[in-house]
Amino acid sequence: MITKPKNGNFIAFEGIDGSGKSTQIRILAEKLRAAGIRCYTTMEPTDSPIGSLIHQIMIGRVKTDPKALAALFAADRLDHLLNDVNGILQILQNGTTVLTDRYYFSSYAYHSVDMPMDWVIQSNEQSSILLRPTATIFIDTHPDTAMERIAKNRSHRELFEKKSRLVQVREKYFEAFQKLKDIENIITIDGNRTKQAVAEDIWTLIQEFLP
Ligand code: ADP
Ligand code: TYD
Repeated sequence: MITKPKNGNFIAFEGIDGSGKSTQIRILAEKLRAAGIRCYTTMEPTDSPIGSLIHQIMIGRVKTDPKALAALFAADRLDHLLNDVNGILQILQNGTTVLTDRYYFSSYAYHSVDMPMDWVIQSNEQSSILLRPTATIFIDTHPDTAMERIAKNRSHRELFEKKSRLVQVREKYFEAFQKLKDIENIITIDGNRTKQAVAEDIWTLIQEFLP
């Protein structure tokens, strides 16, 4: 009898810029692989043509309206799920666990600073129907700490990496979590600690989803 492989888990990491998402994804992916669990890491914006256009807008090289930018992120997300080269849905189908650095909660938080959150949620409805994360891990890092980390390690600051913006975005994340708490599995982790301490917490809670 042919048994269909179980779909892999889809874990979305969220947080303000500099919160430590990509660091934690790297550590978790290493641990999962060491435990013999197949795992694929990815991020949004993607490196697809739509994602590349978004990057150009973020660094100010291409100008557009904030609503158009929000819609581009929604389009990039659908391509991230559906494209037939490395689309997430296809990767999950062979049982691989997928870790993504940002998913639709990033849109809810970042774009609702400038426009109604319900509009942003609606414009991402197709993605939420296609794939709701097994868990969304929010790494909650204080904007001052996040800013210090960014300043230490990056040569230029992108559009969103200003402190007041990060403060607003963090609040919007909590607003979105509150709004969707009945249908989403959201876990908040204190990101103001050492990389190892944060990683240990994530490893402990991830055990719940492992095969
Ligand atoms: P994000 O992906 O959320 O923007 P990163 O993982 O790239 O954040 O982290 C931003 C910077 O802060 C990196 O240089 C990283 O090495 C550093 N960093 C990440 N987590 C911590 C931590 N817990 N303590 C100190 N520095 C950290
Ligand atoms: P990037 O430097 O790639 O990522 P990070 O700060 O996570 O290391 O920048 C991505 C930026 O795009 C970040 O400021 C958040 C923003 N963003 C949105 O505004 N909307 C979205 O839907 C997503 C996925 C990201």
